[in-house]
Amino acid sequence: MRSLIDILDFSVSELDELIAVAEDIMETPEKYNEKCKNKKLATLFFEPSTRTRLSFEAAMIELGGNVIGFSEASSSSASKGESMADTAKIISCYADIMAIRHPLEGAPLVASNNATVPVINAGDGGHNHPTQTLADLLTIHRKMGRLNNLTVGFCGDLLYGRTVHSLISALSRYEGIKVVLISPGELKLPDYVKEEVLEKCNMEFIETESLEDAIGKLDILYMTRIQRERFADIEQYERLKDSYVLDVEKMKHAKEKMAVLHPLPRVNEISVEVDSDPRACYFEQALCGKFIRMALILKLLSEKDYKKENKDVVTDEFICKNDRCITTVEQELKQAFKKTDKGTYRCIYCDREV
Ligand code: NCD
Repeated sequence: MRSLIDILDFSVSELDELIAVAEDIMETPEKYNEKCKNKKLATLFFEPSTRTRLSFEAAMIELGGNVIGFSEASSSSASKGESMADTAKIISCYADIMAIRHPLEGAPLVASNNATVPVINAGDGGHNHPTQTLADLLTIHRKMGRLNNLTVGFCGDLLYGRTVHSLISALSRYEGIKVVLISPGELKLPDYVKEEVLEKCNMEFIETESLEDAIGKLDILYMTRIQRERFADIEQYERLKDSYVLDVEKMKHAKEKMAVLHPLPRVNEISVEVDSDPRACYFEQALCGKFIRMALILKLLSEKDYKKENKDVVTDEFICKNDRCITTVEQELKQAFKKTDKGTYRCIYCDREV
């Protein structure tokens, strides 16, 4: 059985294959409209969502399948204290595949360790969001005709922006990627992404606080919203929320062929006048999300006999200190830490270093 928890679960050739299938579905959708006949997708959304949940549901319906699920934690037995492990076992009785969004980091991994059907991570806390990355890769591929030799700027909340973490991981698989990290000092990319992805893969990167200084060098500008719901201190959010606004004036300094992406929802970080600029790709990106999720559902349902190899050295001799990690609430879950190349340990659920 195959799940998608982290974008690095897929190799480059698998990513390329998903993009090719999604592009074929865009060309000839009628070929696919019965591929999931009699199959059910469960969408388990413990956190708000518009695009991710509805694009998953639209994807399954366009494949001829059916959808069950819930869109808020309060309408599930989690509100009665049911564990993620039990929820995953139960949903496996009713659905052929499930997509989970959860505020706790590592929740989809716990689900996949307990489910008997494929599990898709539809966003876990401020950690990862691999299916948004698939949508991002498809959009970049369509706009630029390639996924290598690109200078990609990430702007906004790089600390809590899970889509940023997953997209940087995916890009580490491609040649000639330069990364420009644009954020306020307090919202810089987490160390685990910097150390485990950028540095480990020898990716060229720079950090800056200025969008104005960076914009002219970029092939892709990936804007993000400041993630209000992840701040412990709301005053800090208020201070940082308007850090960046991409407007027509700033776009004048960008390359003629630059593509602006945003996972959406936007709050005010892209002014609406930019929407009519041909370089604005974020609405097309949302459409790409549906097609690539169709390709993903087909892939996971076709790999029933897949066995995951785990080469990590794992120990349970520490306690994870991240209060957004699933291990802090899931009573029966054993702590588990993997050894890094530096000899330190990181929680396997949330990647926080001990
Ligand atoms: C993103 C998310 O949920 O992480 N949205 C999405 O899935 N398209 C980005 C965000 O909420 O800012």
